[in-house]
Amino acid sequence: MCSKSRGVKKGDRVAVYMPMVLEAVITLLACARIGAIHSLVFAGFSSDSFAERILDCEARVLVTADGAWRGEKLLQLKYICDQAMIKCAQKGFNVETCVVVSHLKRVTSPQGIHYKSNQTPMTEGRDVYWQDIVPQASTSCYPEWMEAEDPLFMLYTSGSTGKPKGVLHTTGGYLLYAATTFKYVFDYKPNDVYWCTADVGWITGHTYVVYGPLANAATSVLYEGTPFYPDNDRFWTIVDKYKVNQFYTAPTAIRALMKFEDDLVKKHDLSSLKVLGSVGEPINPEAWMWYYKLVGHEKCSIVDTFWQTETGGHVLTPLPGATPMKPGAAAFPFFGVQPVLLDESGREIKGEGEGYLVFSRPWPSLMRTLYNNHDRYETTYFTKFPGYYCTGDGAKRDADGYLWVTGRVDDMLNVSGHLMSTTEVESGFNRTPFNSRGCCCCQTHPIKGECLYCFITTTDHAVFGEKLLKELKQLVRERIGPFAQPDVIQNAPALPKTRSGKNHEEDIEEDCR
Ligand code: PRX
Repeated sequence: MCSKSRGVKKGDRVAVYMPMVLEAVITLLACARIGAIHSLVFAGFSSDSFAERILDCEARVLVTADGAWRGEKLLQLKYICDQAMIKCAQKGFNVETCVVVSHLKRVTSPQGIHYKSNQTPMTEGRDVYWQDIVPQASTSCYPEWMEAEDPLFMLYTSGSTGKPKGVLHTTGGYLLYAATTFKYVFDYKPNDVYWCTADVGWITGHTYVVYGPLANAATSVLYEGTPFYPDNDRFWTIVDKYKVNQFYTAPTAIRALMKFEDDLVKKHDLSSLKVLGSVGEPINPEAWMWYYKLVGHEKCSIVDTFWQTETGGHVLTPLPGATPMKPGAAAFPFFGVQPVLLDESGREIKGEGEGYLVFSRPWPSLMRTLYNNHDRYETTYFTKFPGYYCTGDGAKRDADGYLWVTGRVDDMLNVSGHLMSTTEVESGFNRTPFNSRGCCCCQTHPIKGECLYCFITTTDHAVFGEKLLKELKQLVRERIGPFAQPDVIQNAPALPKTRSGKNHEEDIEEDCR
């Protein structure tokens, strides 16, 4: 269609940086139809992070929107893309086409701001408005025939060395698994209304906002906004309004909403709900009980779905109506999946016990490689325990055989369901003008689940104070994105070095070789 007229062909990568608008879904499906590999980057990542990802996959076409309102905040998406494209050009790579959805004109901001005309600067010859080119495109487009193992999309996820990994999923296996897990895990029936609150920029958005529901011809809600705007009962207003039957969200959202008075939930008719899903991090029993009692009126099944960007779809989950529930347990494997618990020496733990969560057999949507880096794929996932896919998570098995995922066992942490690497943040600190050294670790957080706690050693006579703290936080926002901002930064006059006298980052890189 319009991408085709821009020269995009089978196997080319298309970078996407979009808010939760219909055009985001349309772009992904358009790419799939012409065999292009979409590489969607969450529109909360900074221009630095976006540039790094565009360069890695060499996407010559980018699709974005001029901007979006997130609550009362204006996200200048096209501006961030412009910055990213400048950074790519400085490294000798030029994005040739940037398609911009004119979105701000069709919405009014919370403050009543309404952009009547397009305000975004456009670069002649490179930037085009979606609204100018799509109406001219033909309404029919013969699909590109794809082999089952041809790539469908790639999606970056954090890596413990700090460099993001381009997880690659294929056409046949991924789609089959997305469709099957969606149908059985949510017990979706024709005419049900399903809603997943995840942003399309993450794997949950790919599999359970776009591909899984659409492969089942499901009716779903696509929501652009936050749970807190215009009021803290926004989720329940929508469930009531559209009579949502399956609702899928993250523990961090549940914990944030639990803070408000129960009446905000109770005043809505939530009787349409049948299945409540949880994803992204372990759900604590208090949040589980609140979800079960207040939102689900003790009559809904809760499916605590454990999976990863790499697994493509749910791998551990209760099945609604079939699995007796335990608050906080991801329970049992989905059909065909074989989880194993291993101890440090790689010995299998049978029966009750706790260890590394690995899988002994592949399933259709297990990622096939890391884009352009098959060696890293093998080292990261298959070397520690030969013969197994290693999740990087720990889990325990109880006496009834239920699996409980306990969290990451590597240098990754999960902030509000966003997986990130401590090394990524540390390397940002190490590049400050005042030559600081940082060490980041993970602290539990009542709402976000986990948060970043950083120790900073400054040199070059920088004074540790409010000004420096602000600069350091700003630096992380610019290097990675606002969601990665540390909660605590502590002055550490000296930080220990490793035996070889190196900093942490260099050692990890070496470990992975
Ligand atoms: O640590 C696990 C946690 O999220 C990680 C995967 O993150 P990501 O690739 O960004 O995908 C998130 C959405 C699927 C896992 O390694 N995680 C995800 N779901 C759960 C979970 N931890 C415990 N219970 C879950 N249900």
